Amino acid sequence: MTHPRLSFSLKDRFGGFVVLLLFGPPGCGKGTQARMVSSWLGIPAVSTGDLLRAEVGARTPLGVVAAAIMETGGLVGDSLVNAMLVRRVEHSDCARGFLLDGFPRTVAQAGFLDDYLASRQLPPGRVIHLEVERHTLIDRMSARRQCPVCGRIYNTLHQPPRSNGVCDNDGAVLIRRKDDHESIVRQRLKEYDELTGPVLHHYCGPRLHSIDGGQPAERVFEDITAAIQWASEREPSSAA
Ligand code: AP5
Repeated sequence: MTHPRLSFSLKDRFGGFVVLLLFGPPGCGKGTQARMVSSWLGIPAVSTGDLLRAEVGARTPLGVVAAAIMETGGLVGDSLVNAMLVRRVEHSDCARGFLLDGFPRTVAQAGFLDDYLASRQLPPGRVIHLEVERHTLIDRMSARRQCPVCGRIYNTLHQPPRSNGVCDNDGAVLIRRKDDHESIVRQRLKEYDELTGPVLHHYCGPRLHSIDGGQPAERVFEDITAAIQWASEREPSSAA
């Protein structure tokens, strides 16, 4: 059966350009939903966590700095992340918009993003906030596995691969992220509470959509698409 929402076209919505921010604590499902929403809207998903992991893997100067911070569950410095983000969203594939996963993560990053979008005469971002209970976050991260080649995210409990331990797409052996070990997960959650949670106040208002991220992934996706449809009907020509 074809999902009716799959017919959504950005061409005549949001003035043809949209910035979406997937927001929520570690393990809430941002990466999982980012892939689904990106494919539905035809705009790239930009994950600052993935960008940083690529820098770490390539042992760039940024990667060396980031590795030491990420291994302890801390946040990489705002100016480094802001510059990396701008380099990515200025690629031509972002010409119709982009979906941010894991950015902004501090109030300073949110202010930077507002200024950046305004300086390009682009509309401010719409925030999709995924709400998930703490114990569920910890369970999900303990069971997360990821493909090192295509980046597809699995869960040994909820979204297992067809064949144990290998990616359905390319057969690569799945890995466990270093920062998914329990002591680091707790530190990441603490950083979220202290530094990232306050970002929600920055976006408080009609551009903020809160979704129950504790539901099965398909239901979460349906709620996100419904919120985007709803917003697009009230803001048909928001682009400059
Ligand atoms: P990042 O990679 O962004 O990690 P995160 O925000 O901590 O989020 P996660 O990737 O852990 O979780 P997620 O919400 O994407 O959930 P997922 O879909 O994988 O950042 C890593 C580090 O990089 C940070 O700690 C920081 O050091 C640095 N960093 C990144 N951005 C930065 C920034 N802007 N500023 C400074 N530093 C930055 O799902 C989790 C699991 O649950 C999976 O196994 C999945 O299969 C499963 N799952 C998902 N949805 C469901 C569902 N609905 N039901 C059941 N299971 C589900």
